[in-house]
Amino acid sequence: MQRLAVIGGSGLDCWGTPSRQYDQSTPFGAPSAPIAAFERGNSELLFLPRHGSDHSLAPHRINYRANIAALAALAPDAIVAVNAVGAIAPKHLPGALVLPDQLIDYSYGRDHSFFDGEAGPLAHVEFAEPFSTGLRRQLLQAAQQARIALHDGGCLAVTQGPRLETAAEITRLAQDGNTLVGMTSMPEAVLARELNLPYVCVAVVANAAAGLGETITQAAIEQVLDAAMNETRRLLVALTD
Ligand code: HPA
Repeated sequence: MQRLAVIGGSGLDCWGTPSRQYDQSTPFGAPSAPIAAFERGNSELLFLPRHGSDHSLAPHRINYRANIAALAALAPDAIVAVNAVGAIAPKHLPGALVLPDQLIDYSYGRDHSFFDGEAGPLAHVEFAEPFSTGLRRQLLQAAQQARIALHDGGCLAVTQGPRLETAAEITRLAQDGNTLVGMTSMPEAVLARELNLPYVCVAVVANAAAGLGETITQAAIEQVLDAAMNETRRLLVALTD
């Protein structure tokens, strides 16, 4: 992969010292932060922290359209989004990396389309498989080669946040068929689809979802994510090899 874009989430707000930085503006406003570029051999990694460099943007305040438009202007081959999530399926333990293949969107009030008849002509994109199957395959191969455990498949519920869910909400999400819960994959995934950019989500399990384990604390989440992000970085670097 020559030019990989990475959208970092909670626990991954910074990638390091970039070789250069793009201060993109878009018709939708500014992205969450300047896009940092890292060159490595013949490949380049573009990094955008979706919550901002100082982690100050709540999930419903992120300008998803500006983020995807700014990345698209740099013509990446693909976007890998990293999302901290809660586990609904008991098989996913804190620290696990999961590659979901489906999602259900429970978020609301977010600008969720480039083709809504205002920002652009009205269009109904195909979205039966919300994550790129080709890119999922490439990531699974990269994980296998780098000996990184990456669980294949799952359904990701996208909730509004920034609060965590109630135990009853998690029961309902489980009944709906969700195995993971996060707050930021939508509208990110569909905006990438609207612009024909292959997009996948690497879900990093931070905790057992509400009511399914210990009381969730920010400190515990941060501790788990700190450790799991090293493995996540390794996976992304393996994809650019
Ligand atoms: N729910 C929603 N989003 C999350 C969670 C959770 O339990 N943990 C990390 N992101």
